[in-house]
Amino acid sequence: MFEQMDKDFILHSYARNYVNFTHAKGAVVWDEKERDYIDLTSGIGVVRVGHANPRVSEAICDQAKKIVHISNLFLIEPQAKLAKSLVEKSGYDMRCFFANSGAEANEGAIKIARKYGEVDGEPKRYKVITLKHSFHGRTISTLKATGQEKMHHYFGPYPDGFVYADDIDHIEALLDDHTVCVMIELVQGEGGVEPQDKAKVQALAKLLKSKDVLLAVDEVQTGIYRTGELFASNVYGITPDIITVAKGLGNGVPIGVVMTTLKDIFSPGDHGSTFGGNYLVTRAAYEVLEILESYKNSGGLDEAMLYFEERLRGFAERYPKIVEKDVGVGLMRGLRIRSAELLTQLIKKAFEERLLVLKAGRNTLRFLPPLTITREEIDTGFARLEKAFGAVEV
Ligand SMILES: Cc1ncc(COP(=O)(O)O)c(C=O)c1O
Repeated sequence: MFEQMDKDFILHSYARNYVNFTHAKGAVVWDEKERDYIDLTSGIGVVRVGHANPRVSEAICDQAKKIVHISNLFLIEPQAKLAKSLVEKSGYDMRCFFANSGAEANEGAIKIARKYGEVDGEPKRYKVITLKHSFHGRTISTLKATGQEKMHHYFGPYPDGFVYADDIDHIEALLDDHTVCVMIELVQGEGGVEPQDKAKVQALAKLLKSKDVLLAVDEVQTGIYRTGELFASNVYGITPDIITVAKGLGNGVPIGVVMTTLKDIFSPGDHGSTFGGNYLVTRAAYEVLEILESYKNSGGLDEAMLYFEERLRGFAERYPKIVEKDVGVGLMRGLRIRSAELLTQLIKKAFEERLLVLKAGRNTLRFLPPLTITREEIDTGFARLEKAFGAVEV
């Protein structure tokens, strides 16, 4: 009944799977027939502290009973507290602007860079360099910032001023008098779970600093402890000029943030959002950060990362005819599968075993589990994955 309703009334922009989930807990979701699925996707990298986390649910309910929204024309106490928490936990001397999604956070980053490139109100420097396999969002300018050619099929004309580098090594050759910013993901997510080389990233950061070109790091997927620290930028030992965050910060409530060292870049009226950073989402996100900080400090996060990685590596070793290698950082992991056809089979078989996994790039089986996933959930998930591997035809 709901499947038909969905088909009749929702635009068909997703290749939707018609399972109807009704409730969830930790890394387990149940459908309307009470069948349990292990979720190794956390809703495409969102549900950081597990589904229906009691502390986050309590914060949301408590806030909903008090005040949900008033607009950014007034002080929003949990927004200020969240900004302070993000900045202090990151170790970067920055200020925040709150949006509602990753794409919107990246729009903010592009606006900050373009404003930085203006001299006397003239757009003297405006070019933003991104990478060919990048993904930065679905709005018109973040689609244009996304380097994957297949994303540019319709929707033109696009805004000018985006240039694509083949890889990090290629960026220097593209710098010119109009370049104001380089925007990269430190571990490409949608592009195929592709970590950048640490030494190269550090050299790039140094080069850009010397040329007064901004470095924006898109941490929409890598941020919020996904790679072991609050930001992948912390793991890589760099200080970007701009960081964008979304996905995991709200554990499911829609939130995006652009953070920058350019603390006075905006004046009132330069940028805005009706919903951005309202009471509800910032209260939830504040709680998420508190939970994750103590989880990290207790050693729980490192333990989960190690165990997950070790178990996943076992698949690469046991199934060399299917898996080329295991890839990733922290709990942003993947198995490079030998062909796109095998990957499609595997995802289908995994679903039949009630295991949720993701595809990335052309041939990567991607795992973005909740960071608080338990050993038992990992074991159950991987037992189901083992069955899926056993059922594919090589
Ligand atoms: C690195 C990166 N940037 C931006 C986005 C876009 O985020 P959103 O879908 O919240 O707009 C994504 C989404 O997958 C992403 O992975």
